[in-house]
Amino acid sequence: MILPTRKLLPLAFVSLFIFFALRSPAQAQQQPEAQPPIYLGTAWYPEQWPESRWDADLTLMQQAGIRFVRITEFAWSSIEPTEGVYKFDWVDHAIADAAKHHIYVVLGTPTAAPPAWLTQKYPETLRIKEDGRRDEHGNREQFNWANPKYRELCRGIAEKMAERYGHNPNVIGWQIDNEYAAESYGPDVQKQFQDWLKAHYKTLDNLNERWTTAYWSETYTDWSQIPIEEKAGNPGLLLSWKRFVSDTYRSYQKNQLDVIRANSDRRQFITTNMMGWFDGYDHYTVSQDLDLASWDDYVGRGHLDPYRNGAAHDLTRGFLRKNFWVMETQPGFVNWAPVNTVLDKGEVRAMAWHDVGHGADAVSYWQWRSDLNGQEELHGTLIGADGTPVPVYSEVAQIGKEFAKAGSALAGTSVHSQVAILHSYDSRWAINWQRHNQAFDPVTQIVSYYKPLREVAQSIDIVPPTTPLDGYKLVVAPGLEVISEAEAENLIAYVKNGGHLVLGQRTGMKNEDNGLWPEREPGPLAELLGGRVDQFYAIDDKPEDTVPVTGIWGDTTSKIWAEQLSTSAPDTKVLMRYGRSNGWLDGQPAVITRKVGKGQITYIGAWMDDATMLRAAKWMAETSGVTAALGPVPMGVDVYPREGEGKKVFILVNFNKAPQTVTLPSAMRSVLDDKEVRTVSLPHYGVAVLQAK
Ligand code: GAL
Repeated sequence: MILPTRKLLPLAFVSLFIFFALRSPAQAQQQPEAQPPIYLGTAWYPEQWPESRWDADLTLMQQAGIRFVRITEFAWSSIEPTEGVYKFDWVDHAIADAAKHHIYVVLGTPTAAPPAWLTQKYPETLRIKEDGRRDEHGNREQFNWANPKYRELCRGIAEKMAERYGHNPNVIGWQIDNEYAAESYGPDVQKQFQDWLKAHYKTLDNLNERWTTAYWSETYTDWSQIPIEEKAGNPGLLLSWKRFVSDTYRSYQKNQLDVIRANSDRRQFITTNMMGWFDGYDHYTVSQDLDLASWDDYVGRGHLDPYRNGAAHDLTRGFLRKNFWVMETQPGFVNWAPVNTVLDKGEVRAMAWHDVGHGADAVSYWQWRSDLNGQEELHGTLIGADGTPVPVYSEVAQIGKEFAKAGSALAGTSVHSQVAILHSYDSRWAINWQRHNQAFDPVTQIVSYYKPLREVAQSIDIVPPTTPLDGYKLVVAPGLEVISEAEAENLIAYVKNGGHLVLGQRTGMKNEDNGLWPEREPGPLAELLGGRVDQFYAIDDKPEDTVPVTGIWGDTTSKIWAEQLSTSAPDTKVLMRYGRSNGWLDGQPAVITRKVGKGQITYIGAWMDDATMLRAAKWMAETSGVTAALGPVPMGVDVYPREGEGKKVFILVNFNKAPQTVTLPSAMRSVLDDKEVRTVSLPHYGVAVLQAK
């Protein structure tokens, strides 16, 4: 359990002690056993089933090793069927019944699904969609997140729930709302946005200058003239809107968070379930008030991509820079992909261990049982409409056994990396608004660096550019297109203190208003680099557009994007050059590097293939002293190190179709079969949990 900070744990123990001391023996018997270090969980909707059925459900859950259920996150109409009339009995019973089965509870505030009476009585709480029409009841997320009346009602229900369950020993945490994703675009929100702009830019002259509104006569003479733009618009306006959206989600969340905090034990965590690479808002902004980051990890169609998905885990771990929860994941398949393929037998288990390896302290399946009616009738579940297990149940039960077995080895461990990849929402948005080459997907770009670096280092942190970087041997910024002065200073200090900073294509192109830095890329880092981008070129995927690149990482071609670099300092070295292509790039530098005191800064201007990037990653590791966390393993075997005080655990998962053997650098305890091993044999999707001595 990673939840409250270490400082708060003693407090939690004291309150637990007082609680137990005051309870009658009968009550005490219902207490769940000690909280597990790694939780298996599921989303349970008791409000859809007669109470007489619950015990059967909870028995099956207990048999599968499930240790928490998340409930109530869409249950507003069952908790408050009419305004001001609350029905908590069923929630009381669900929590108490779960406790009898040693199952803890995470309570969701039900605000993602306002009841019909609410939106009928307060239609102003319904969101205005992008097409200008008001949303209506019948789905979920139909609310306006900026509406004061809606916030008042959300606060009300959250407060009532917290008053009732904030000290319930079987409730371990809170999830606010569900997957924030739907903004509102009406005049009320526009006015709030304009006020937000005024608070940020102070004067219209300042805003006009920083957005270069003289362009296309965009100049504003009154705040009320400023529109909302989501996709096409002045880049400064677009970025400001996204920042406003992020701040509004934060305040929407804080509105509920404050009343939960005020009425609950500190041991109860507060989270919200986020969505991996989803970029609707700045997750760093929204996370900062939470105790725990969590996300919903769905593969959808096809199979787990351990790199892209692994990077999403590392991204989530970076929100609060500590372990996180997988609050939802698919028990085999979903219902919303173009083809809702199933994960292979064994893949659900491999994925669960991949999650834990990346720092998840909980893996929870959505959902427990098929709804008899409702939009998601066909989604994967653990038990069917008839109330008996579906095939994947037994695999999840195996995970339950294994989590219990590995719990003590993993207790108190987390992920520590030598390498950081810098990520910012500003940059991803900026690239997406002006991709320049439709193939330039900023997440694909990040993963093109993440993948080889993970092969080499076996562990990566993904953090924002404002993070203190001292502890890292290598910091890589794949596409930090937007960079503020403060962020640039952080990176410059890192290099001056002896770090190796590697910049990828488009880094340092734009300032914090999403306008161009006049120095050209990498903007405020150009002086330190002793070089810059003279010009960037979008590369089409036709054979005649091929751009050869040659140098210390071998011979390859550049795709999607190629930047023509130049050096201005005598000690800036060229590592790779372009071959003959469009004439402009011929013979020009593609990768340059410069040693600065004990530090180093490198700029990579060409988007290159995986094999070349692997050689590049090896070079980055060698020049920075980065070593593999475990040591050499066959390609396709993922290594996940987790460390705690005096403890080192390695989780291995084989994603190859063929079985693989890993020779360990020293003898270790194989936790799942409790024996000492020097080599590990892993079938397809095989898992090993190893504790170093
Ligand atoms: C999630 C959502 C769940 C459920 C699930 C289905 O995005 O939070 O409530 O709808 O998708 O895959």
